[in-house]
Amino acid sequence: MRTHTCGELRAEHIGREVTLCGWVDTYRDHSGVLFVDLRDRYGRTQVVFAPEGGEENLKVAKSLRSEYVISATGKVAARPEGTVNAKLATGEIELRVDRLEVLNRCLTPPFHPTAQDLPGEDLRLKHRYIDLRRPRMQRAMMLRHRMIKIMRDYLDELAFIDVETPILGRSTPEGARDYLVPSRVQQSAFYALPQSPQLYKQILMIAGYDRYVQIARCFRDEDLRADRQPEFTQLDLEMAFVDADDVIGVIDGLMARLAKEILGLELSLPLKRMTYDEAMERFGHDAPDLRFGMELTDLTDLAQQSDFRVFRGVAESGGRIRGINAKGAAGKYSRKGIDELTNYIQEDFGAQGLAWFKVDEAGKLASPIAKNFEAGLLEKIAQRMDAESGDLLLFVADKFEVTCKALYGLRKRLGAELKLYDPKQMHFSWVVEFPMFAHDEEEGGWTAMHHPFTAPRRQDRERLTSDPEACRAQAYDLVVNGSEAGGGTVRIHDQQLQRQVFGLLGIDEATAKDRFGFLLDALQYGAPPHGGIALGIDRLVMLFGGLESIREVIAFPKTQRGTDLMTGAPGQVDAKQLRELGIKAAR
Ligand code: AMO
Ligand code: AMP
Repeated sequence: MRTHTCGELRAEHIGREVTLCGWVDTYRDHSGVLFVDLRDRYGRTQVVFAPEGGEENLKVAKSLRSEYVISATGKVAARPEGTVNAKLATGEIELRVDRLEVLNRCLTPPFHPTAQDLPGEDLRLKHRYIDLRRPRMQRAMMLRHRMIKIMRDYLDELAFIDVETPILGRSTPEGARDYLVPSRVQQSAFYALPQSPQLYKQILMIAGYDRYVQIARCFRDEDLRADRQPEFTQLDLEMAFVDADDVIGVIDGLMARLAKEILGLELSLPLKRMTYDEAMERFGHDAPDLRFGMELTDLTDLAQQSDFRVFRGVAESGGRIRGINAKGAAGKYSRKGIDELTNYIQEDFGAQGLAWFKVDEAGKLASPIAKNFEAGLLEKIAQRMDAESGDLLLFVADKFEVTCKALYGLRKRLGAELKLYDPKQMHFSWVVEFPMFAHDEEEGGWTAMHHPFTAPRRQDRERLTSDPEACRAQAYDLVVNGSEAGGGTVRIHDQQLQRQVFGLLGIDEATAKDRFGFLLDALQYGAPPHGGIALGIDRLVMLFGGLESIREVIAFPKTQRGTDLMTGAPGQVDAKQLRELGIKAAR
């Protein structure tokens, strides 16, 4: 129907007869001549309806409204002197129309795709077909397409093969609740939608497909946030005969290729690695934003020597006193400002308080609590904190975990407020050697920090039972700008060890047999050493696009409450459907 797209015509096309199809973006009537900006996903072109193009055409053109779909045929012409639009790729030319066809009309749209101010997100999600016409959304969708294409090509070059795994399956333990699908044929039995293809990809390794990849949809019923959706997409891969370095190396190469092709950035490889313990010590978090400094400093030994009751008390009960130095920020935070920071860490992270010092012009530490510290001690603190005039020092005394959370939160907030980094900058790194186990807050005992198929470091196998807390895993997370962009591990390929780890996790023989019996069986039939990783594609596209929410890179996302406002899912079903499934709705 069309000879060109709306983003294609240039000066070299002047004089040619062409046909464009698209949506009416804007229309302006200038003393009897009608100017329409015609839009498609490739761009915009000015099309002109003048009396020379036929009175009938002009009459129809005057009935055009926003978002009408038209086909316009005519000659490409140079724009008159002084009307060239340098901002528009097609800004040198216009299309002088002599044949107009209205392909479809449009109701008055609830909002305009190229309007400056956007309506609320709910309205955009309800009319997603209009929202997806927005150039920003179209750029995001195309970015997503390009990134996935690069991933597939890169892994294809490395001999990975794409294998699809079931959506209707058994539960995979990734730590969230399952979405369940009732079986009609076997009443009271349920499929679980995969939280990831974890077990299938391990089975594929045992089956000899030593390099597997899948752009895999995953489903997790968990509390949603800006970077979480109930269904999301992973670049999921698994490799046999590898250790952690091999998997990390493959992803290093992929990040370098993406950074180069998408952003024009040269990454220097290998990407930096930091252990989990170091990350917690220096940044209080396992996915630190390394675009700026302001690292955490420990002060427990010095704080213990003070007369400040809070510090001494915490130090004596085995807690920690740690702080950050907000360089040059003393003047930027008044008493009220510091009170706000205090409230923030109390409410969001359960800290008890925030102790602070401002460094005065003489380089001395000033604070209402300074009287509790001898001058020599204050000097030592200043030195440890690398304090200079105008700095603001902030301290949290608490259990280690609380100091981590509160100072991580403070650092993140201050980094943004004090503009310590360029938001366009990209930083890639790895955090490795996570703990094998974490305390299960709800049920007591241990849970798997990553998932129960993760192998401990070789040197930790001996103390698995005697000191599980100290055991570190062959695990690695990819961190981009302070977000967890991916995570993976070397797996257990030995059935004995797998049983031992299940045991530590409180998964008894019967449960293990019922839920993962097929894996335990398969491990006995020639399982090669293997490991892998999954990257969150939605998060990566969001980060590469400099976008704020993964809802911007998913064509049809769900709201924070897990609903699809366009289709109305989740919805009611017929009583008959429920009867067939042998299910009674509680309400
Ligand atoms: P994990 O659970 O760490 O690992 O998930 C891998 C990556 O997927 C992304 N991600 C999400 N993205 C959007 N919405 C969500 N709800 C969501 N949950 C996770 C994150 C995360 O880093 N089977 C293992 C991988 C492996 O061991 O190979 C797994 O799924 O970016
Ligand atoms: P208080 O003695 O409770 O009035 O506290 C004096 C100062 O110490 C206040 O600025 C509190 O916010 C701060 N503070 C109290 N508890 C802690 C803590 N656990 N860690 C750091 N600062 C604290």
